[in-house]
Amino acid sequence: MSELAVNVKNLKYKYPDESWALNDVSLEVSVGEAILLLGISGVGKSTLLMNLNGLLTPTEGTIHIFGKKVIEKNLKEIRRRVGFVFQNPENQLFCPTLWDDIAFGPVNLGFSQEEVEERVEKALKLVGLITHAEKPPHHLSFGEKRRAAIATILSMEPDILLLDEPTANLDPRSVENIIKILEDISSKGKTIIIATHDVNTLPKITDRTIIMYNGKIKAMGPTKEILSDHGLLEKYGLKLPIIGQLFHKLESDHKLSIDSSLPITISSAEQKLIELINKNKKEGKP
Ligand SMILES: Nc1ncnc2c1ncn2[C@@H]1O[C@H](COP(=O)(O)OP(=O)(O)OP(=O)(O)O)[C@@H](O)[C@H]1O
Ligand SMILES: [Mg+2]
Repeated sequence: MSELAVNVKNLKYKYPDESWALNDVSLEVSVGEAILLLGISGVGKSTLLMNLNGLLTPTEGTIHIFGKKVIEKNLKEIRRRVGFVFQNPENQLFCPTLWDDIAFGPVNLGFSQEEVEERVEKALKLVGLITHAEKPPHHLSFGEKRRAAIATILSMEPDILLLDEPTANLDPRSVENIIKILEDISSKGKTIIIATHDVNTLPKITDRTIIMYNGKIKAMGPTKEILSDHGLLEKYGLKLPIIGQLFHKLESDHKLSIDSSLPITISSAEQKLIELINKNKKEGKP
């Protein structure tokens, strides 16, 4: 069996006001997997991510990260290996300059000045902000702040990256930037878990999708299977990706036979359309 990056068993979490946000969540994530954690607002996505790196402590159940239990005495190592990118980038940027913000983690981890400089430069280049290194973070645009927040985590070179709504409130080009950064990190064998409602842009970089509802995991499977299952998504208040909606409509309104699962990305839709056109040509249809 492949090594587990994350192993969550029967996790329950109750906030101090007695509201249960997680109710018996069990989950295994292998090293190098990219996971889409999907669910409507308030189902417990952020609460789950915050439990994974020890920002919150489970009320019941256990979490192991690379075999180490998430408990007080292991938190230093866990936080080094698990980076958390908050939904609001402003929560992650508080130093006078961007450079200082990105250096903050490595300095705290006790690296030499030379190593810190190397890591900061690498992280800033990766997110395309090297020219902004000396700017105060509050002068950055929102999309730049988002990339900067990711860089504050990348400079610590974590093995697992948890991202909370990384594409929310961004213009399409900034979304593409984020996708490229995440693709790059994923291709280096890092484990990624992304909490989101975004079914349109993030599926193409994730292997597996988990649907949460009311503090529980309701479905889990390959992204292209889960995100093409109209009935399942509707049941939990979600929608097919826009491209899947088009094919679903063609199927239901025009009896177009898709033969396989609905395409959920532009490239799979393109391939499906070419197949359908060629099939029609062969059958002599216009
Ligand atoms: N500090 C808190 N105290 C009490 N209840 C909280 C607290 N934070 C979150 N909750 C509740 O826990 C539940 C799960 O919240 P959580 O933020 O994990 O949801 P989410 O899936 O991340 O939602 P969203 O998509 O809106 O970010 C919600 O019902 C929320 O009201
Ligand atoms: Mg949230």
